[in-house]
Amino acid sequence: MTDAQFIPENYSKNLDSGAFTWSSPSNIALVKYWGKRDPQMPENPSISFTLNDCKTTTTLRFLKKIEEDEFSVRVFLDGSEVPDFKPKILTFFKRIEAYLPFLKDYHFRIETSNTFPHSSGIASSASGMSALALCLMSIEKALSPNISEELFIKKASFLARLGSGSACRSIEGDLVVWGKHEAIQGSSDLYGIKYPYEVHENFKNYHDTILLVDKGEKQVSSTVGHNLMHGHPFAAQRFQQAKDHISRLKGIFKSGDLNGFITLVEQEALTLHAMMMTSSPYFILMKPNTLKIINAIWAFREKTKVHVCFTLDAGANVHVLYPENDAEQVGEFIKNELVAYCQNGHYISDKIGFGAKLL
Ligand code: PMV
Repeated sequence: MTDAQFIPENYSKNLDSGAFTWSSPSNIALVKYWGKRDPQMPENPSISFTLNDCKTTTTLRFLKKIEEDEFSVRVFLDGSEVPDFKPKILTFFKRIEAYLPFLKDYHFRIETSNTFPHSSGIASSASGMSALALCLMSIEKALSPNISEELFIKKASFLARLGSGSACRSIEGDLVVWGKHEAIQGSSDLYGIKYPYEVHENFKNYHDTILLVDKGEKQVSSTVGHNLMHGHPFAAQRFQQAKDHISRLKGIFKSGDLNGFITLVEQEALTLHAMMMTSSPYFILMKPNTLKIINAIWAFREKTKVHVCFTLDAGANVHVLYPENDAEQVGEFIKNELVAYCQNGHYISDKIGFGAKLL
């Protein structure tokens, strides 16, 4: 599929006003996307677990306007207007206008809220942009009721990607691949797809407890971070490694090899940070407590042989990943040892989820 196929034909219906509400989850990458080219095309394929409880709920209200000359949008977070969010939305609208020709026909009011605290260091861009993309697709479906379910989902992911790359992995669950990979049938740089192969029981109901080490604003925006992969001395090897990791994960998911999973996922997390530490300019997003948590996880795993591991985003927080069977033991370990390293003792218990919902 090429992006031209997301340009709609003439709409068959008229619509004066209305509202749609979607709730859409966050996701955590196992194989990381880090490096992109215009327009939001990934330099390597990535794969993520969709989360269940960390999500954004967005209501998009729309009212037909008279002039069609420019975009009209107001954004509200938890009931209060947030003019700071508007430029990002306007950039998004500009990028997707060719695919949603109705965007200048309406006044839009975006009302959004997250289940996780705004200042938790958890990026809301994946859940936020995917929820908004789905609301926009609901309008398109009202204007053109013949859109198939398949096209609806693909185009929602395609639009979400143009808002924030990883957002395209938040439409469906429980495992999503984004980026062309020859071993993954149907994979594309344009949108995320549900992982299409067998997944062993061991990976069903996987848990992700997010330890909030640093709730501050991100030191480096992901846009800046992605751009530092241009001309990075290790870029080519890194992109190849991500591809190899996806091929290896296919075998791991099939056989249920938890140890293989742990090694690969931790290597991915540390490589992501290694790329940041070796770019120009370089930076370190991990905090002392991030390393203390990693060491505590390694010591606990060594001692107990429990299948717990960590992954990291572009920040200091630690995602602790573990299978359903080990949930009780790891839950105790987190409470007894790891909570001490969290800012104000805060953490979020989440698990694998199944994608966005129309409310
Ligand atoms: O979607 P972005 O541009 O915020 O990039 C996300 C990058 C990572 O979270 C670090 C990795 C990933 O694949 O989600």
